[in-house]
Amino acid sequence: MDVKEKLSKIGQEQLLKYESELTEEQKKALYEQIESLDFSVVKNIEHLHKPEKRGKITPLKSLELPEIQAREAEYRKVGVDALKAGKVGAVLLAGGMGTRLGSNDPKGMYNVGLTRDLYIFECLINNMMDVVRETGTYFHLFVMTSDLNYDSTTKFFKEKKNFGYPDEYVHFFKQEMAPCCDYNGKVLLERKDKVAVSPNGNAGWFQSMKRTGVLDIVKKNNIEWLNVFAVDNVCQRICDPVFVGATILEKRSVGAKVVRKNTRDEKVGVMCLEDGHPSIVEYYELTDELMDLTDERGERVYNFGVILNYLFNEKELEEIVDKSLPYHLAEKKIPCLDENGNEVKPETPNGCKFEQLVLDMIYLSSSCLPFEVVREREFAPIKNKTGVDSVESARELLKKNGVEL
Ligand code: UTP
Repeated sequence: MDVKEKLSKIGQEQLLKYESELTEEQKKALYEQIESLDFSVVKNIEHLHKPEKRGKITPLKSLELPEIQAREAEYRKVGVDALKAGKVGAVLLAGGMGTRLGSNDPKGMYNVGLTRDLYIFECLINNMMDVVRETGTYFHLFVMTSDLNYDSTTKFFKEKKNFGYPDEYVHFFKQEMAPCCDYNGKVLLERKDKVAVSPNGNAGWFQSMKRTGVLDIVKKNNIEWLNVFAVDNVCQRICDPVFVGATILEKRSVGAKVVRKNTRDEKVGVMCLEDGHPSIVEYYELTDELMDLTDERGERVYNFGVILNYLFNEKELEEIVDKSLPYHLAEKKIPCLDENGNEVKPETPNGCKFEQLVLDMIYLSSSCLPFEVVREREFAPIKNKTGVDSVESARELLKKNGVEL
């Protein structure tokens, strides 16, 4: 089927509206982009402004700090052994757009230093080096980028010599892109020769590792566990031996680092069971009744927020990856062409992008261990420039943890 036919079949012929104005080269690029995209995601627009259907939410017990402290030595030993045996790798999710931070560079290139340069990527590598020193072994790091930030990310790592992490342990791959559409489900053009696209969320990483061949490195090295983490938490502990050991010893297929909520209604997703599956319920889905539900100790049961740091069992992921993950909608300001064909950057949301979310991977997993960590030590996300979850708040926590800025 040729491109025109493909588009007319799905009602997206507008993407070729300016074809006659394009050079042969531009036309070729546009056609290739159209061929590479999965337009079926757009049908999800029908769910816009409708609450997502959820199953029955029940509590999932977390492993709390006192229990972890009581068995720390045991967990640590198992984790260190697994790391020493090369069974654990790390996956850095760095394909996001970081729009709230408002920098044109990848978020990891943001300099949080005050009297010296200290980049977000550097903070993460420094944290990894603590584990390297403890175990005496390097572990593989897989860095997910998108089409939009692959070149700048790889160039930056090269320039900075991976902040001291050996080349043979650092691998980059690209995630998939998804088309963006207007409120009528019509896919937008960003330019006359380019469809508007955005990274397809933070859950496609395993599939992208498979597609790009990076998974072969995992298999060749007999890596059994993958610790996935977000780029923006500068206090993130990566491949933490105690966490690894606890997940293995408690025989779960996923470990999820969680923090105790600051307030009963803090805006974080919390771990739960949904129809008996491990899952995450978003703060806006928690009714007052669920929010205040307590256990026999009088402690709130939906009280542990996820921080995007998960340890996945690789074998089980192979099974999950074949089940398709749903797409979620996000209303965004999408740069596009106006009715006269001029490129515009809208001031208000003008359509939707589509994302797969890690919570759906958790739902497909057979078991999950929510593992409590000390918030002040391990959770300093940078989403905004100022205020909550910002460069400012992260700097405060970095300082508290003894990092010179
Ligand atoms: P966020 O949901 O905070 O999104 O990502 P973001 O793109 O970084 O920031 P905003 O919303 O545009 O301001 C959480 C983590 O998931 C990664 C991000 O890089 C970050 O580590 N991510 C997100 C991806 O790797 N790919 C995506 O498509 C989306």
